[in-house]
Amino acid sequence: MSSLVWVELDADSPDHNLDEIRRSNNFSGLHCAVVKSNAYGHGVREIVPLLAEADWLAVNSLDEGLELRQMGVLKPVLLLGHVPLNRIDEARQADLRFVVYNFETLEAIRDLPVSEKNIFLHMKVETGTWRQGVLPDDAIIMAREISEIPGVVFDGIYTHFANIEDTLNHQYAETQLNTFQRVLDALQEEGLKPPVVHSACTAAAILFEKTNFSMIRTGIGLYGLWPSRETKLSAESIGCTVPHLKPVLSWKTRIVQIKEVPAGSFIGYGGTYRTTRNSRIAVLPVGYADGYRRSISNTGWVLIDGNRAPVLGRVCMNLCMVDITDVKETFLEEEVVLLGRSGSEEITAEMLGQWMDTINYEVVTGISSLLPRVVTKGADIVY
Ligand SMILES: Cc1ncc(COP(=O)(O)O)c(C=O)c1O
Repeated sequence: MSSLVWVELDADSPDHNLDEIRRSNNFSGLHCAVVKSNAYGHGVREIVPLLAEADWLAVNSLDEGLELRQMGVLKPVLLLGHVPLNRIDEARQADLRFVVYNFETLEAIRDLPVSEKNIFLHMKVETGTWRQGVLPDDAIIMAREISEIPGVVFDGIYTHFANIEDTLNHQYAETQLNTFQRVLDALQEEGLKPPVVHSACTAAAILFEKTNFSMIRTGIGLYGLWPSRETKLSAESIGCTVPHLKPVLSWKTRIVQIKEVPAGSFIGYGGTYRTTRNSRIAVLPVGYADGYRRSISNTGWVLIDGNRAPVLGRVCMNLCMVDITDVKETFLEEEVVLLGRSGSEEITAEMLGQWMDTINYEVVTGISSLLPRVVTKGADIVY
């Protein structure tokens, strides 16, 4: 790899992870892979071809959906985010299914010119996240309106859990599920229930079979990351088949300078680190512009040939410095692991999350989309 900072994606892990999530509850319905936000920072162009096992794909925005179609993706694609009222026809022409929870969206659809193409809608029900969603009391009215618009297919209905990852107590999720079920029952009674019903994110899909309905909608798990420590603990105690998730992503860089630094020297902006011994430091060409956040300053470490090298001083926009005094035989342009394995050591997205005071989701999603992504099989680069 000739770049100075890059992301490596393991070719076999995404499909392996999809299979493992399915296996945890013997799920045989549709599996929708959530590849929004540049596939959680992994690189949507590189990840999507690795998702042979995914039946559907979901993204947030219309533009993300159009990008998938430009890439030649033929699978059903669901837009989870609001489609601007004046761009609904673009979604229709590109066969992008999308969420509806506003009556204004239905009004805009009614005003569209007739087309040979149908619009496939998924109504999102508010069950307690207080984000997007139609109120349960309005769901029947909305479902009826959707079903009555010519050229519109009431394809699906869904909801999203607010507090299923962050806790060992799943009572709130249970309440949300009950609300969703009540809406489903009412729709069933009216003969309005659409074919595709979905509620399960990764944590729900692993932990609670009853959330799976006809489709699961998983993001973080397909990238080989657990939604949280609580989810893993719950899975281990609940008696489901605990999936063996394999992280897909490694993040690497190369040393661009090695220098001897006398004891008592201040390293980097603000002089926040002062050497206590004659030291050797390596300068790395990665910084907060790449997603290697400033909060890692004086806190995290990197891996060089299986050795930990602590970050010294402040992480800059495009550079940071690490202590290699105790690492033998480093050399210019040697590979450095920021996230991933090296020898018997590993830096996980969760460790970076602790150093950055955030969660693994934000760590990987925050890796700059400007960095090159390569897909690997063992030591070989596939593309
Ligand atoms: C509506 C919706 N569904 C599914 C997901 C996937 O969740 P997870 O990554 O926890 O599997 C997300 C993630 O943000 C989401 O917003």
